[in-house]
Amino acid sequence: MSLIYVIMGVSGSGKTTVGKVLANQLGFPFLDADDFHPQANIDKMQAGKALNDKDRKPWLESLNQELKKHKDTGVVLACSALKASYRESLEEGIKVHWTHLAGDFELIQARMQLRSHFMPASLLQSQFDTLEPLESGLTLDIDSDVEFLVHMIRAKYETKGPAHWGIVGMGVMGQSLARNSVNAGIRTAVFNRATEGEELVIAKMLTKYPDPKLYGYTDWKEFTAKLSLPRKILLMVPAGKAIDAVLEELLPFLSPGDCIVDGGNSHFSDTQRRIQELIERDIEYLGMGVSGGEKGALEGPAMMPGGSKVAFNALQPILDKIAAKDPKGNPCVGYLGQGGCGHLVKTVHNGIEYAEMQLLAEVYSLLLASDIPRSEFGSIFNDWDQGEYSSYLLGLMPSIMNKKEGDAYLIDKILPMAGAKGTGAWTSITALENGQDMSISTAAVNARNHSQAIWHKFPQIQENHRKPSRGVKLELERILKGYQAARILNHLQGLQFIHTMGTISNWDLDLSEVTRIWTNGCILKSQLIELLTEKIAADFDHLNLWSYNCYIALFQDFKYTLNLGWQNDIHMPVFNAAWQYGLGVSSAESNANIIQAQRDFFGAHTYKRKDHHPSENFHTDWTKP
Ligand code: 6PG
Repeated sequence: MSLIYVIMGVSGSGKTTVGKVLANQLGFPFLDADDFHPQANIDKMQAGKALNDKDRKPWLESLNQELKKHKDTGVVLACSALKASYRESLEEGIKVHWTHLAGDFELIQARMQLRSHFMPASLLQSQFDTLEPLESGLTLDIDSDVEFLVHMIRAKYETKGPAHWGIVGMGVMGQSLARNSVNAGIRTAVFNRATEGEELVIAKMLTKYPDPKLYGYTDWKEFTAKLSLPRKILLMVPAGKAIDAVLEELLPFLSPGDCIVDGGNSHFSDTQRRIQELIERDIEYLGMGVSGGEKGALEGPAMMPGGSKVAFNALQPILDKIAAKDPKGNPCVGYLGQGGCGHLVKTVHNGIEYAEMQLLAEVYSLLLASDIPRSEFGSIFNDWDQGEYSSYLLGLMPSIMNKKEGDAYLIDKILPMAGAKGTGAWTSITALENGQDMSISTAAVNARNHSQAIWHKFPQIQENHRKPSRGVKLELERILKGYQAARILNHLQGLQFIHTMGTISNWDLDLSEVTRIWTNGCILKSQLIELLTEKIAADFDHLNLWSYNCYIALFQDFKYTLNLGWQNDIHMPVFNAAWQYGLGVSSAESNANIIQAQRDFFGAHTYKRKDHHPSENFHTDWTKP
């Protein structure tokens, strides 16, 4: 089954136009044979001299080589290929679907004149004289519209080429990624189960987004049969048991070497387990965090893959095409390392995200307590969202602040009970399990937990205890700097944690690649991430040094912001956690010696001494004076 289409004809026959439309419909790249001439031929043509068969030989050979590169994935080439011998050279070692766009001399000449494309009648006549019609293949009369010609070509040859990859799970993210993929010219097979309530998901999708590069299935056998080998399948199903259930159903239809990617927010330990289980069945498994929400999935997400390098290599051409692009134009996707590191990175991304969101909520609380009119909040956030401070999340705030329902702000009608799907908590739990400090994002997780569990249970506290502060004077410029200090510490803590997890788990994780991927497409996209990427790329230690210097420079404004919260009884848990973390990492003195003394006192847990080698342990009878 060939996937190589060549459209031939004399100049002006419309082969480029038809070829491009065909390529677009099939999801194949389009090649123009004229772009493959060696320089000598170009020079000769520019000098107005006709090419002879000898000149054409290297050109035809390089075209043949180029076609061979696409033989498994498909290609459309527009080429004059007027002589049978040229076609033989082009077809050397491959099978080509030939189409000749034929028309009479007068029609083609008239067309070219219409396009203001001057070509001497003698030159066109010489092409007609050289032309040797196809012996087999398809010859079409060009006196038809392009759509019809393309339809005829497809009707004759189309084998419905295999899909480049498949996506399982047509929820919002799955559908958006599938549409992104099809828009990028990738033939995509999508699968959704047809269980009760979901019978029409695929049918509706195909009706809503009809595209010849999109194939829909509700049957595993048909879906997997459509995929080119090795199969590349992206799972966009809810994390947890659903993934294992899908794998169990899917595995009987897979072949050794097939590649599966889990693009959900899975727990990294589940991903590690699945990698182990599947490698025993010769299936390559990749765990990939995908960030950017519905819009990112459609227009270009940031993707964080880890696990099987084989699977990554197989998927990279596809992932590169659908990913967001970093400031240098490179795709926001890259192999991060082994095991479950892709999902761990995404989990911590979300932990940092929780804290970034909560910091903005706390700034809002300060604004609410101030003398600033409510109507100005949107423009304050808008003014802040510039230069080094700008970020995707800050950029959402003006719309959130300004959105009205009737005369009232919509935000005032939303119950202050924050939901969570779990990745923030996983960040905290993983940090605790590995002896790491993720106190800033943990404070954000707790803030959400409080909002759910406590706020609505004790309304009498709010009624009797105190009235919210109002009319406080704010120095906005200083709060912006305090906010930036908290953000820098939040990012520092998260990145340090990822780095440590990479070391603990032997993942060979490249932190600069993590932040590079985060420069676009994801929720953490910001100028700060771009800056951090530069620092880390230069040297990992720059991350600490640069963050520390920023923190020191912003210290007084940070303190001012915290003080405002304290003086006005404003609940600012993440600002406070960041403040404490900053003090902890920058204090020359730690009080942990007291903890060691207490531990040794009641439990003989021993301690180490400043004046002895760290390998030595000491115990004291503290009761004796
Ligand atoms: C992203 C987000 C996303 C996250 C949702 C919901 O990077 O696109 O992090 O993956 O799952 O925003 O998260 P919560 O419901 O836990 O807030």
